[in-house]
Amino acid sequence: MTDPQEAIDAETDAAGVERDPRVDQRTAGETQPGIPFIGAGPGDPGLLTVTGKELVEAADLVVHAGSLVNSELLDTYCDDAEQVSSIGKDLEELVPLMRDAYEGGRDVVRLHSGDPAIYGAAVEQMDALEHEGVPTYIVPGVTSAFAASATLRTQLTLNGVANHVAFTRPQGKTLDAEDDHIGEFVEMGDVTTCIYLGTHAVDETMDRLLEAGHDPETPVAVVYHASWPDEDVIEGTIETIGERVASAGYRASAMVVIGDAARKAGYERSYLYDGWANRDATDSEADD
Ligand SMILES: C[S@@+](CC[C@H](N)C(=O)[O-])C[C@H]1O[C@@H](n2cnc3c(N)ncnc32)[C@H](O)[C@@H]1O
Repeated sequence: MTDPQEAIDAETDAAGVERDPRVDQRTAGETQPGIPFIGAGPGDPGLLTVTGKELVEAADLVVHAGSLVNSELLDTYCDDAEQVSSIGKDLEELVPLMRDAYEGGRDVVRLHSGDPAIYGAAVEQMDALEHEGVPTYIVPGVTSAFAASATLRTQLTLNGVANHVAFTRPQGKTLDAEDDHIGEFVEMGDVTTCIYLGTHAVDETMDRLLEAGHDPETPVAVVYHASWPDEDVIEGTIETIGERVASAGYRASAMVVIGDAARKAGYERSYLYDGWANRDATDSEADD
């Protein structure tokens, strides 16, 4: 097997020279030859897409993201398949595992939590497999920020409150302090900031926001295990949320949502169901 980094470099160099023809030949919803990288959604088996479910049901080997994928989903859809957790396995182990099974004629699927495109590290596996001659593609899923907004019964964009959404993560082992932009998103005011991979650091993150002078009353909601049976919601503000999350004891698997949209506060009716409703539809870009 080619060294994974060399394979990634070769694949990205090739992509820089010529667009992958599959970009034009295939749509995002189509099943394709190769190993699908499937978004399992946030946890509830019902939040897996129809295409994802069909592929998982037909699989002989399911390589999944360990505890982030609800075991109920695995039990429900692929109890009879070989199931392998990717936790603790590097590319050197994962790539030959999937390649050999695929080349041996087995139906292989790679199951990521939420959507593979968000903090999924899917593309490096796909590039390494493609370099080995194994085609791959993505089947999108429901990212956990969307499950959290559904739980909170709000929208991440909300007229008059939040015009933008930031999917972000806090500084730590893999992100340098200067690349942590949470404070800048909060500073913008009309951004809903969704923090992935930050459950263990809610207190420190809020302290940094307070030190930087952000409004301590800014709403924050923390949704633990959105869509799982033990889902929990903790609400507060930049000033109070750290202590509340610490006393609940959550250190992983929660979505931190900062901004007025988290509390669905102060929004205005939109143009869509107001004046725009009577405009000529052909010259307006209607919101969904
Ligand atoms: C490695 S990232 C994967 C994100 C995933 N690809 C997605 O689209 O949701 C893991 C982080 O996603 C968030 N997360 C994943 N599942 C969640 C859930 N059911 N509820 C809340 N947050 C979740 C947590 O912040 C967790 O630390």
